[in-house]
Amino acid sequence: MGYSSEFLQLLHRRNAETHASHLMPHLRPGMRVLDFGCGPGTITVGLARAIAPGEIHGIDMEASQIELAKAAAASGGHDNASFQVGNVYELPFEDGSFDAAHCHAVLMHVPETQRALLEVKRVLKPGGIISAREMIASASFSEPMGETTDQAWATFIKLLAANQGHPEMGKQLKSRLLQAGFTDVRATGSFDYFSSAEDIAFLHAFICDWFFMPQVVAAATQYGLATHEQFEQWRAEMDEWKEMPGAVGGLAFGEAIAVKP
Ligand SMILES: C[S@@+](CC[C@H](N)C(=O)[O-])C[C@H]1O[C@@H](n2cnc3c(N)ncnc32)[C@H](O)[C@@H]1O
Repeated sequence: MGYSSEFLQLLHRRNAETHASHLMPHLRPGMRVLDFGCGPGTITVGLARAIAPGEIHGIDMEASQIELAKAAAASGGHDNASFQVGNVYELPFEDGSFDAAHCHAVLMHVPETQRALLEVKRVLKPGGIISAREMIASASFSEPMGETTDQAWATFIKLLAANQGHPEMGKQLKSRLLQAGFTDVRATGSFDYFSSAEDIAFLHAFICDWFFMPQVVAAATQYGLATHEQFEQWRAEMDEWKEMPGAVGGLAFGEAIAVKP
């Protein structure tokens, strides 16, 4: 989904308490934790607080995100958090190095799910836990819908898939984790829900700035997923949605915790 300032605003609304609430009860002071695909580190710093004086290591394949994460940790005084550029396919850590591994909205973008999960399993200690929260794009919505808004959501899903992503990863976590040899899988679901005037204004601005940005429109039209006219219609429907008193929006996620035997 890129690293635009609009997309980063969405990531900056995330924190460990709200977006890793399924993991927090499993964390203990002194644990050694990996956050793979940590992005700007907004969730990582909350995990760092929960496991201090243990260490958290954030990795991301994008250098700009690692710089943001380092700055977030420094400004919050989280000296138990360190960050480096790296790929989840080849983690720069020894076997059995971590008590827990966390990711949020990452596996949905990683083409080879099993390769990634097996590599994370390698760096976990026996008995260590993996935690993931990933989008269920088909269960996400804006309501009330305009006449063709459903097509806009369908195009978003197709765009993720066309980029070798997994738009439904949130509901596939349990099977993927079992397939990779994890046990004791506990799968749950939740929404990032938008209802207040401020939330709706934010989601509207995010969708308009991201989904309607020239690169996204160009990709969708090049893949033959949508026309410029459709994007114009969707934009008009989103503008109407923002003004509706009953406007709500939801991004659906599945979460799972599992154990390395
Ligand atoms: C949607 S962002 C989520 C960031 C953060 N976890 C959050 O939820 O705020 C996905 C992140 O995963 C990273 N990523 C994608 N594929 C990766 C890979 N193979 N190895 C490491 N990082 C990856 C991206 O660079 C991006 O920063």
